[in-house]
Amino acid sequence: MAIFASLPKRVTIVEVAPRDGLQNEAAVISTQAKVRFIDALSDAGFPVVEVTSFVSARSIPQLADAQDVLRAIARKAGVRYPVLVPNMKGFERAREAGATDIAIFTAASETFNRRNINAGILESIERYQPVVRCAKEEHIGVRGYISTSFGCPYEGEIAPTAVLDVAQHLIDMGVDEISIGDTIGVATPNDVIELCEVLLRRIAAGRLALHLHDTRGTALANVLAGMQAGIAIFDSSAGGLGGCPYAPGAAGNLASEDLLYMLEGMGIETGVSLPAVVAASASLAGQLNHPLTSKYFQASQR
Ligand code: HMG
Ligand code: MG
Repeated sequence: MAIFASLPKRVTIVEVAPRDGLQNEAAVISTQAKVRFIDALSDAGFPVVEVTSFVSARSIPQLADAQDVLRAIARKAGVRYPVLVPNMKGFERAREAGATDIAIFTAASETFNRRNINAGILESIERYQPVVRCAKEEHIGVRGYISTSFGCPYEGEIAPTAVLDVAQHLIDMGVDEISIGDTIGVATPNDVIELCEVLLRRIAAGRLALHLHDTRGTALANVLAGMQAGIAIFDSSAGGLGGCPYAPGAAGNLASEDLLYMLEGMGIETGVSLPAVVAASASLAGQLNHPLTSKYFQASQR
């Protein structure tokens, strides 16, 4: 007998390790190694692989080779390859390198947004207007991130209505999908249900994703809560890589391997091969100066 009757039959996983993971690594990873990692992830079956960021090299030196990476990957039919852009300059660099999907990123907390992209929330929304307009004209898909949706390292707890306000601005601007970020991994399942209920009153479930960092070990429980609330798009990161240099204390993202193991065990389809993800993570692991945090990955290496 199914215990969780209301769960989706299929979930879309957005693989973010090449961007959220590699933006946070101290070790220098070569462009070639990044490209191999991304190609291995799209070969593993992820329908979306977030490739890199077209941000200031002073802010994120790890991704300064964004154009070379995006140009060199082997694009698979049916796979989307979004890249982060913080402003018009980023959009133009991304477009030159052939981006067909972008992600803009703002936050539910004023202080975090200032530290991260040197703009207040409304200021960033203004800054993104021309970016989204140009993207739409060129049929480039647009995702919008809302960081610190559950808590901020500088301001503490964030009210669901604050997230809804930002989400409404993004929807009005024309973004296709909104990813709700638990940037510092503070959410528990009740918080997820509460926020999803507030958002789902105005926004269709098919346009909402959850982006969970696993700082306090609640990410998988939060996926379950999200699925029960009606969400079927989740961001995760091979090996559990990830973090944000502007969010002190943030740990890695929910690990793709751990998410896949849970979903497979529950009979929920993803189209992704778990052994292929483990192989992709293993090929990168030797180049990092720390072990990978994914529990499933660790168990698979014993
Ligand atoms: P700023 O200093 O206000 O920008 O930074 P500016 O417009 O005054 O320009 C300053 C310099 O940066 C200039 O160069 C610009 O040309 C250059 P200079 O004349 O001094 O040599 N510049 C750029 N270079 C390349 N690409 C660009 C670009 N823009 C300006 N696009 C800015 C503002 C937004 C640029 C900066 O703060 C920045 O790049 N921030 C990015 C921070 C970041 O990437 N954070 C991590 C990603 S967000 C995240 O991880 C959270 C998420 O995972 C969800 C979650 O977990 O919640 C998405
Ligand atoms: Mg993140």
